Amino acid sequence: GKSGYDHFMLKEIHEQPRALRQCLRGRVEEQTASVDIGDLADLAPTGVQFVACGTSYHAAMYGAQLFRDAGVPAQAFLASEYATSPPPVGNSLVVGISQSGETADTLSALREAESRGARTLTLTNTVGSTMDRECDHTLYIRSGPEIGVAASKTFAGQLTALNLFSMATAERNSTRRDVVPELRKLPGNVQKILDSSSAEAVADYYEDAESYFFIGRGYQYPVALEGALKLKEISYEHAEGFAAGELKHGPLALVDENTPVFAMAVGDDEKARKTLGNIKEVEARDAPVVAVTDGRNDAERYADHVLEIPETHPRAAAVLGNVQLQLVSYHIADQLGRSIDKPRNLAKSVTVE
Ligand code: F6R
Repeated sequence: GKSGYDHFMLKEIHEQPRALRQCLRGRVEEQTASVDIGDLADLAPTGVQFVACGTSYHAAMYGAQLFRDAGVPAQAFLASEYATSPPPVGNSLVVGISQSGETADTLSALREAESRGARTLTLTNTVGSTMDRECDHTLYIRSGPEIGVAASKTFAGQLTALNLFSMATAERNSTRRDVVPELRKLPGNVQKILDSSSAEAVADYYEDAESYFFIGRGYQYPVALEGALKLKEISYEHAEGFAAGELKHGPLALVDENTPVFAMAVGDDEKARKTLGNIKEVEARDAPVVAVTDGRNDAERYADHVLEIPETHPRAAAVLGNVQLQLVSYHIADQLGRSIDKPRNLAKSVTVE
């Protein structure tokens, strides 16, 4: 049942602390900053191609960035396009990310890669799924069953498991020492957001907007895309996600006082400063700005509303910022009376190409 929540989606958003604890259980050791994912650590790929659809594709973009940051060439592909125009695989490991493990487009891409001699791995939530059975290797995200059609806790699980995977196979000690403690704090930090989020008030304020933009840079870019996808799916409102730096190359033409812009503003480094510049660009066009921020940059000065997240590593901030965006989408859809757990035209598991 829904355990007292109005929708499975809200229940599953609230299950994230537990899902993340399960994902991390027995896999990270804080004292030594070590990561244990068993034999998978031996994979040590010299290249990674991620294939996935929808929300899982956003996780794939994040995963590819993790590997690139560790010096390993990596790319994310939409599974339907990968199968249509497969890139050379070389020695790459091909990783299919799929909550269900049954998505037809992702399965086709994996089969295509396998037929070209690639080793395959699936990152999935579903033990015994077709991908679990067909791929050479599996890394489970351990999120528990997800009933709502819109993916919520499984996206958090995917991002977290991708950190484990990149740390165990590609990353240096120094990175692990920075990241492992922040992963350990994730369940508690997600809980803090769930306990104190002002997302419902923000949703109330903007529920009449015509169009919603989401921007982010680096690890926050896939989160911006995910924020927009979630809002479209469950509220049927128009929403778009962009790389923050890409706004001025076209989409800025659409921005006006009726286009709330949700901006992921995390950290105080060069990336954060650039994103702040992008926030000023939209603010100058009178767009309402909702900053999802850890308070370490000046974003709140230019924002009409702020959704706070605890200070952490940018990779963990992606998980936290996404929780705020999930809540905004949920409450907008709820206020509009949408069928949140079963949006029109959509299915939980898409088994046709
Ligand atoms: C979004 C959503 C879909 C799925 C996509 C892939 O909320 O649920 O975009 O992410 O259909 O599904 P899986 O991960 O099962 O392969």
